[in-house]
Amino acid sequence: MKIVIPGGTGQIGAILDRTLTAAGHDVVLLTRRPARDGHVHWDAATLGPWAEKIDGCDVVINLAGRSVNCRYTPANLRAMMDSRVRSTRVVGEAVAAAARPPRVWLQMSTATIYAHRFDAPHDEATGVIGGGEPGVPGYWAYSVEIAKAWERELERAGTPRTRKVSLRAAMVMSPDRGGVFDVLLRLARLGLGGPVGGGAQYVSWIHDQDFARAVAFLIEREDLAGPVNLAAPDPLPQRAFMRALRRARGVPVGLPATRWMAEAGAFVLRSDTELLLKSRRVVPGRLLGAGFTFGHPEWPEAAADLVRRSGRGGMDVLAA
Ligand SMILES: NC(=O)c1ccc[n+]([C@@H]2O[C@H](COP(=O)([O-])OP(=O)(O)OC[C@H]3O[C@@H](n4cnc5c(N)ncnc54)[C@H](OP(=O)(O)O)[C@@H]3O)[C@@H](O)[C@H]2O)c1
Repeated sequence: MKIVIPGGTGQIGAILDRTLTAAGHDVVLLTRRPARDGHVHWDAATLGPWAEKIDGCDVVINLAGRSVNCRYTPANLRAMMDSRVRSTRVVGEAVAAAARPPRVWLQMSTATIYAHRFDAPHDEATGVIGGGEPGVPGYWAYSVEIAKAWERELERAGTPRTRKVSLRAAMVMSPDRGGVFDVLLRLARLGLGGPVGGGAQYVSWIHDQDFARAVAFLIEREDLAGPVNLAAPDPLPQRAFMRALRRARGVPVGLPATRWMAEAGAFVLRSDTELLLKSRRVVPGRLLGAGFTFGHPEWPEAAADLVRRSGRGGMDVLAA
C-alpha cells in the first residue's frame, strides 16, 4: 500500500514508519523540514504540491500537531489548537480534491478527550467527554476543546469515498529515546518514580507494537469508522503504574511527589501537570468488540518488555 503520514517525523510517526515499511508498504512522511528520502515538504496549513502524494495513495494517517509536552501558556495552547485544526482541515481538502482518494483516513485524536474520572472506565459508547469536571483546574478544559475541535474537523471534511477514523490514543509507550516511556524510565532510575499527587489518578497507555497492530487492523477493517480508543484494556492508578515500572527496571524506591512538587518539577521540565495529574481511565471497547487482541494487555509485562528493548534494564541504578 501507499501510505502518507502527515506529521510523521515524531515519536508515533517513527513507530508507524518502522513497522509499515518493514511490512513492505511504501511510506511517505509530510514534514515542514524535509531531511531525507521519503520526506515531502508541506506547511501543514495550505494546499501545495504535497497534495499529489495524497491523490492515488491508499491510506492517510495524520499525526501533525504541536507537542503537548510544554507549559500551557496562552501562546502554546493556541499553537496546540491551530496546528491540529489547520493540518486536519488541509488534509481533508487534499483528500476531497483527489481524483483517486485514499480508502481510509486515520486521524490522530487523543484519549484526553474523556473526563477526569476515577469511578468507571470510558469506552466509546458510554464514555463521558471532559470539560466540565468539578474540582480540576479550569484550563484542563482547553485540552478537551482541542481534541473536540480536532475531531470536528475530521467529521466536517467532505470526503464521501474515504472512510474516516479518529484515533483516541492513550500514551504510546515505546523504547525510543525522547518518548514518554523514556522520560518515565529516567524518572524511575533517579528514584523519582513514586506516586504523584496521591497516585490514584489512572494512567491509560498502549504498547508501541499493539499501537502499530491496531493501526493495521483499522486500515483493514472496512466496517470501523468514527472514534476508536487505542488503549490497553488495563489502565491502572499512577501509583501502581510506576511501581510496576520500578520493578521492571529494578529500582527499589520511588519518592512520592506532592501536587506542589509536581508543579515545580513540571515547571523545570517545561511541561504541564495536567499530563501527570489528570485521571485517564480509557478502555478499548470498539477494538475488543471487533475482535482485536492485544499482545501486551497488562502493564507489568509490557513495562518489562519495554525496559528490555530500551537496553536500559538490570540493576545498574548508579551507572544509569
Ligand atoms: N505520543 C503519544 O503518546 C500520543 C498519544 C495520544 C495522542 N498523540 C498525538 O499524536 C500526534 C503525534 O504524536 P507524537 O508523539 O509523534 O508527536 P511529536 O513527536 O511531537 O510529533 C508531531 C509531529 O507534528 C509536527 N508538528 C509539530 N508542530 C507542528 C506545528 N506547529 N504545525 C504542524 N505540524 C507540527 C512535527 O513534524 P515536523 O516538525 O516534521 O513538521 C512532528 O513530527 C500528536 O498530535 C499528539 O498530540 C500522541
